[in-house]
Amino acid sequence: MLGQIVVSSEEIEAMLERLAEELEADFEGKAPVFIGVLKGCVFFLTDLTRRIRSSVELDFIQVSSYGASTTSSGSVVLVKDITVDVRDRDVYLIEDIVDTGITLTDVIKLIEARHPKSIQVVALLSKPSRRKIEVDVAFLGTEIDDLFVVGYGLDYAEAYRNLPDIRVLEE
Ligand code: IMP
Repeated sequence: MLGQIVVSSEEIEAMLERLAEELEADFEGKAPVFIGVLKGCVFFLTDLTRRIRSSVELDFIQVSSYGASTTSSGSVVLVKDITVDVRDRDVYLIEDIVDTGITLTDVIKLIEARHPKSIQVVALLSKPSRRKIEVDVAFLGTEIDDLFVVGYGLDYAEAYRNLPDIRVLEE
């Protein structure tokens, strides 16, 4: 059942404005490539990049989790790879939410193997209390408590991604 709004669409708007400004200030002398982590990134990536006045290249990567019994070789399976050549480029990795940090750590490894000049993480939400692996989130919308949230790209079993606000999902 859908619960209370945790981040409203108005609050998201304000975060997008701030993040777009912070990112543009960071672009000086760079050739930015935004790589969205599917599918949760879609609303965030499109709304964010529409607020950026300079040109950025866009690409996508999709991974799926192995589930509970992971092997030591990694926690995610590559479902859709990037197609842009990121060698010597400045990559901005666009994530909906950083929870344990496991997904992002593995995605960063996959991208680092293509020798970009830099990789920085841009995340709308972060649940720092849940972190198992430390990840540096260079550009962040906001931290939230340890709640399961849906909407604005975030899903529960593929449902609720299209909702404009971010809400708690209750049992
Ligand atoms: P991590 O690997 O634990 O950091 O998890 C990252 C991924 O788990 C995110 O990209 C989301 O797809 C999913 N996730 C984590 N927390 C939530 C949540 O509260 N709602 C929906 N999806 C979540």
